[in-house]
Amino acid sequence: MDEKRKILVTGGLGFIGSHTVVCLQEAGFEPVIVDSLHNSRIEVLDALTDLIGYKPVFICGDVNDKILMQGVFAQQKPVAVIHFAAHKAVGESVDQPLLYYQNNVAGLLNLLEVMKAESCHQLVFSSSCTVYGEAQEVPVKESTPILPAASPYGATKQMGETILRDLNWCRVQCLRYFNPVGAHPSSRIGELPLGIPNNLIPYLTQTVSGIRSLLTVHGGDYITQDGTCIRDYIHVMDLAEAHVAAINRLISGIGFDTNSNEVGDPSTQQFEVFNVGTGIGYSVLEIITAFEDATGEKVIYKIGPRRAGDIVSIWADTHKANAILGWNAKRNLDEMMADAWNWQRHCDKASLG
Ligand code: UD1
Repeated sequence: MDEKRKILVTGGLGFIGSHTVVCLQEAGFEPVIVDSLHNSRIEVLDALTDLIGYKPVFICGDVNDKILMQGVFAQQKPVAVIHFAAHKAVGESVDQPLLYYQNNVAGLLNLLEVMKAESCHQLVFSSSCTVYGEAQEVPVKESTPILPAASPYGATKQMGETILRDLNWCRVQCLRYFNPVGAHPSSRIGELPLGIPNNLIPYLTQTVSGIRSLLTVHGGDYITQDGTCIRDYIHVMDLAEAHVAAINRLISGIGFDTNSNEVGDPSTQQFEVFNVGTGIGYSVLEIITAFEDATGEKVIYKIGPRRAGDIVSIWADTHKANAILGWNAKRNLDEMMADAWNWQRHCDKASLG
C-alpha cells in the first residue's frame, strides 16, 4: 500500500469513526485506527474486518499517551489524521468538566505536538453544531457568530477550533456535525451507547425494542410548529462520506495556496470549516412519526419537561460544503430511521448494547 494513502483515524471504533473507516477503505485509502475502547467495543473491529475485507491496523491506546502516539506516527507514517477521539456527552461534561478539557483539549494538543514533530501536516477535526449555541439565525452558516458555549463539551469544541485556526503549519478541515443517526446498511456497525442513551434515536429504538418502557420527549412547549425542538438529523454514512471529501481536498491541496505552502508561512490558508448536515430541520414529534412510518412500529412516548441546556431550533446551511467539498447528503429520513431500527434489531439478536 502506498504510504501516502494511510489515514490515521483516532476513535476509529466509535460511531462516526467506524463508518468513516469503511468509507475511507472504499475510496482507496488505508485506515489506521487508534482507539482507547473507553466508549467503544472491540467487537467493532471484527465487524469492520468483515466489511472491508481485511483486518485494519488497530492500536489500542489513548491520544493523551504521547509515547504511544509517537510510536504510531513513526511506524505508520500517515499522510493525514481524522481526529474523532473525544468525549461527547453534554450532561457528563457538566458533571466532569476536567475530564472533558483533559481529553478533548489536552488530547488534541498532544496529538498536534506529535503530528508536528513527525511532519504530518493534514487534519480533519470533529467539531459540532453545538459551537453555534442558540443561534440568532437559522439555518446557521459557517459565518454565523459563535456564542458562548452552553456546556463544557461545547466549550471544548470551540477551543479545539480556536487552537486549529491559529496553526500555521497544519492544513485543517473542521467539520461541524449536526445530529448523526442511522447505521451502515449491513447493520454490522452502528451506534453503541454504553448504559442509558442520552441521544434521541438510540433511546427511541431501545424503547421500541422493549429495553426502555417509554420515550420522554423533552419539552412540548417550545415556540416551534408542534412545540418540540428542531434538529438537523444526518445519516451517519453521509457524514462519513463528508470525511472522505475533506481528506481528498486536503490531499489534493485545492483551496490552499500550494505555491507558498511552506510550513510556517502565515500567508497560506490553512483552516477551513464546513457545516455537515442535510439542511432540513425536523421536530422530535416529526422524528417519531417518521420512525413509525419507516418501520411500521409504534413508539410509546410521553411529553415531559424541557431538558436543561437544550437549544430550541438548529439546522444547517450546507451550501459551502456542497459547493467546496463537492459533497451532498444523499440519504433521507426514511433511510435514517429504517437503518437505525435494523441496527437495533441486530444488537438485540447479538446481545450488544
Ligand atoms: C447534542 C449536541 C451535539 C452533540 C450531541 C452529543 C447541540 C445543538 N447538539 O445534540 O452537538 O454532538 O449532543 O451527544 O448542542 N430528546 C428527547 N428525548 C430523549 C433524547 C432527546 O426528546 O430521550 C430530544 C432533545 O431534547 C433534542 C433532540 O431530541 O431536541 C435531539 O437530542 P439529542 O439526540 O440528545 O442530540 P442534541 O442534544 O441535539
